[in-house]
Amino acid sequence: MSNAPLRIAVLGSTGSIGRQTLDIAARYPDRLRIVALAANRSGELLAAQARELDVRCVAVCDPPCAPRADDLPDGAYCGTGPEAVVALASFDEVDVVVNALVGAAGLRASEAALRAGKRLALANKESLVVGGDLLMPLAAPGQLIPVDSEHSAIFQCLLGESGASVARLWLTASGGPFRGWDRSALAAVTVEQALAHPRWTMGPKITIDSATLMNKGLETIEAHHLFGVGYDRISIVVHAQSTVHSLVEFSDGSVKGHLGVADMRVPIQYALSHPDRWDAPVPPLELTTLGSLTFEAPDLETFRCLALALHAGRTGGTLPAAMNAANEVAVAAFLAGRLGFTGIDSVVETVMNEHGTERVESFEQLERVDAQSRRRAGELVAAS
Ligand SMILES: NC(=O)c1ccc[n+]([C@@H]2O[C@H](COP(=O)([O-])OP(=O)(O)OC[C@H]3O[C@@H](n4cnc5c(N)ncnc54)[C@H](OP(=O)(O)O)[C@@H]3O)[C@@H](O)[C@H]2O)c1
Repeated sequence: MSNAPLRIAVLGSTGSIGRQTLDIAARYPDRLRIVALAANRSGELLAAQARELDVRCVAVCDPPCAPRADDLPDGAYCGTGPEAVVALASFDEVDVVVNALVGAAGLRASEAALRAGKRLALANKESLVVGGDLLMPLAAPGQLIPVDSEHSAIFQCLLGESGASVARLWLTASGGPFRGWDRSALAAVTVEQALAHPRWTMGPKITIDSATLMNKGLETIEAHHLFGVGYDRISIVVHAQSTVHSLVEFSDGSVKGHLGVADMRVPIQYALSHPDRWDAPVPPLELTTLGSLTFEAPDLETFRCLALALHAGRTGGTLPAAMNAANEVAVAAFLAGRLGFTGIDSVVETVMNEHGTERVESFEQLERVDAQSRRRAGELVAAS
């Protein structure tokens, strides 16, 4: 086996997962080398990352935000537009693609990475929510490694086990900042309150998804595709301490769980080190001072987004793509102060109700559904 460092493309390098990926690479310069970076609009930060790491291939989705050539290292090339971001995923110089883009914008990059035979370290759960039916058949065994902490936990619990002995997946949820609240109280939630997640510091979209519990619905669909387990055998449990990252129940009644401190650098690093484990800069889990761990059922009446996502997953076809697009538009509108917190689930529900679900046939069809659902969600936001 070669001892050459793994060559990594970090798509979404200026975001929360992307920046943590660069931290990990800085700790292991002999094992990991960043060779490509992409962002949406943060051209200046992208250029600073490229200079620091001497990265010659960068891409910016929004052309006017591209860095000036003078700001990039000598000989560097900056592509612009969504195709340039996707192209990085299949470059010959790349061994591993970390897809840390946010939203359905990550779908084509996941497709490109899998088609090109790269290892795909997948943080962008929306790829699987929208296109899991098409992406999973492209993935060779061991090619797609989840970064989401719950899915990394399940992936690790499943190592050495036969799929036939899996009885149930248990996805843990922190419950977000509004755990225990009534539906009526949610109407007045402010952006600041919704962004104050009790356990994790993350990008704005996933933080709002965690507050509505849509995130757990997206993760249920992600788990269904990743592990090939039916929705009737995936359960969600609210575990406010976020110490147990998820569990797998086997046919003999044994349950394996994955515990650890809540730090995304651990699952990101595992997606790069697998099947090995490397030291991580996190404090050890001190069991004697943990106190009690609690587990409770989620409240689907209050957190409508979770119920809607579970319905979309069970229905399948193009409905998860429509739901995801509506959610992206509604979350952006909430963050911009144009929609109330409970308006998010109203918009998602209306778009889902109006969507004529079809069997998934192609990426182009999913992009059409995505665009139509975004348009309709935009109209609903404007009328709210
Ligand atoms: N953060 C976490 O702890 C966490 C945990 C588990 C899973 N995830 C998942 O990981 C993904 C990333 O989350 P995040 O929290 O890191 O998000 P984030 O902080 O908002 O970062 C998103 C990154 O993607 C870039 N980007 C967005 N749209 C793009 C586009 N169309 N083309 C190119 N680049 C684009 C952004 O660039 P700009 O800076 O230019 O906007 C930024 O670099 C999401 O799917 C999320 O659900 C995150």
